[in-house]
Amino acid sequence: MNQTSPIELADLVDLEAFPIDDPTSASYIEAVNDARVGLRAEGCAVLNRFVSAEAVELLNDEVLERRHATHYSTQVINPYFHTAFNPDYPVEHPVNTFIERTSGFIPGDAWDRDCATDILFQSSEVARFLADCLEIPILYCYDDPLARLVTNICDPGQQLTWHFDTNEFTVTVLVQPADEGGVFEYAPGIRSADDEGFDAIAHVLAGGRNGVKTLDLQPGDLQIFMGRFSMHRVTRVGASSRPRHTTILAYTPEPGVIGRVERTRQLFGRVLPAHEHAEQERVRSDALLD
Ligand SMILES: [Fe+2]
Repeated sequence: MNQTSPIELADLVDLEAFPIDDPTSASYIEAVNDARVGLRAEGCAVLNRFVSAEAVELLNDEVLERRHATHYSTQVINPYFHTAFNPDYPVEHPVNTFIERTSGFIPGDAWDRDCATDILFQSSEVARFLADCLEIPILYCYDDPLARLVTNICDPGQQLTWHFDTNEFTVTVLVQPADEGGVFEYAPGIRSADDEGFDAIAHVLAGGRNGVKTLDLQPGDLQIFMGRFSMHRVTRVGASSRPRHTTILAYTPEPGVIGRVERTRQLFGRVLPAHEHAEQERVRSDALLD
């Protein structure tokens, strides 16, 4: 690839398999319908090799260039990202079940606006395609200056334990898989907006496998995942494995959305004035624990 010329969508996405620049084409409609089937059935769609093999190398090079910006954290959290015992619940309850989570994130302000990773993220074609898959009218790039576009780094020995996301869906591209471990697992629809699903969650946290699915993701695979209702994790990366790199493209159905101060500090080790400001004017979409 000639990196001196501006990077275009065709340099990044396999437009033959996924003609996201031609939404009236039969292949586009077929890709959308395939994704909808997975999302409706279990809140998960994997678009194999959405990002071309050549582009995945470019994305991974950009991750490696920014590894110094990674914020690593180790916490012992419950699935709701809380760290403190809650006396309102029994000791063995999911709310009071805390598991180690160690990983790193390259934050949103580490990416140049003209790098391949950011161009993929900001592509209006990508956003329209994802909105069509998710059956929502429109998607905007997440406005959070740190969480908008991140790469999750799982180094050898690290894991991203069972948790729920705060967004209803997450879009990821696997940029570099681990050699050993680092497997994505999820419990589709284990809770809903009006049912916390504590019994099923307790089963999985205790090591139970009922309702747990495993994905064999490959480099360039794009995954759309309903992480608000499906508890999920990345299993521990093996001690001699290469790191696992997953780039997270964050979109919201409404413009101008910014993350919570507490969660931002957990993930990135800092907050920006935009986070403090947004905390004052927050509008929540549901009343789940978080
Ligand atoms: Fe997640």
